[in-house]
Amino acid sequence: MLAAAVKILATRRYPGPAFEELDEVEVLPLSALKEPREDVEGLIVANEPVPLDLLPRLRIIANFGVGYDRIDVAACAPGIVVTNTPGVLDDATADLTFALILAVRRQVVEADHLVRSGGWTGSWSEGALAEDVSGSTVGILGLGRIGSAVARRAKGFDLRVLYTSRRPVETDLGEFRELDALLSESDILTIHAPLTPETVGLVDARRLGLLRDGACLVNTSRGEIVDEQALVRELVSGRIRAGLDVFWHEPQVPPELLDLPNVVLTPHIGSATRQTREAMTRLAVDNLLAVERGEPPLTPVTS
Ligand code: 8YV
Repeated sequence: MLAAAVKILATRRYPGPAFEELDEVEVLPLSALKEPREDVEGLIVANEPVPLDLLPRLRIIANFGVGYDRIDVAACAPGIVVTNTPGVLDDATADLTFALILAVRRQVVEADHLVRSGGWTGSWSEGALAEDVSGSTVGILGLGRIGSAVARRAKGFDLRVLYTSRRPVETDLGEFRELDALLSESDILTIHAPLTPETVGLVDARRLGLLRDGACLVNTSRGEIVDEQALVRELVSGRIRAGLDVFWHEPQVPPELLDLPNVVLTPHIGSATRQTREAMTRLAVDNLLAVERGEPPLTPVTS
């Protein structure tokens, strides 16, 4: 247990029993923080900008999530440790990625709507036939932990796996391609890169144009990696399909997408299973407790 004098601020009640182990925790959204708080030494956030000037005694920011692109890690150094929750959400995010691949390629959501609307009068018309998943080629942009978990699932579905990353790696998970080649050779493109200055808008209008007609783009990483307006244009034209869990201005979704049959939309739920979210809380809390004890954090990040 933390000493009573130590205050932890949490931007919400994080799920799971680990959260209850925090003795002195105050739940407060950062938007409600108006005055400097001398009593706060630890903070749990979900990838939000932290007003460091209002938290002068902060020692640790424990990010609930693997991506920490909205936290100014450089501004925290050297006094404030920043941690994240890598590893524990790989399978859940890879599972959702596969759910989107399957839903888009097999038109699961459209088929569901057809049944519910009473439009199922016989078999699907020829025009509505879907695309195989098995036997097609998936291109994985970013072969980190989550990208690798997607590649392992893809093998089980008999997909040919291509990947791109900053440099080729020693792996039997797939064949390396430069990004442009990855786009033009893939039936399915799935994005698993962190959001950094190098990856903002990485999949721009020109690169979207390299995707094959009928290709499927899946994004469960960060919306900002794709030029969203260019993506909207491609989707409105009907040339490609997409499964999108992330967007530039969450929770806003480009309105043009809402009525499109070739897009499946989910509300940033890659890690949103009970087991995974509880494991994320556990890791965030363990990081807080380690720093409080004067021990090294379990999963620190660097800028
Ligand atoms: C969110 C995520 O952190 O891990 C990430 O990078 O984007 C998610 O797990 C989570 O949805 C809480 O907002």
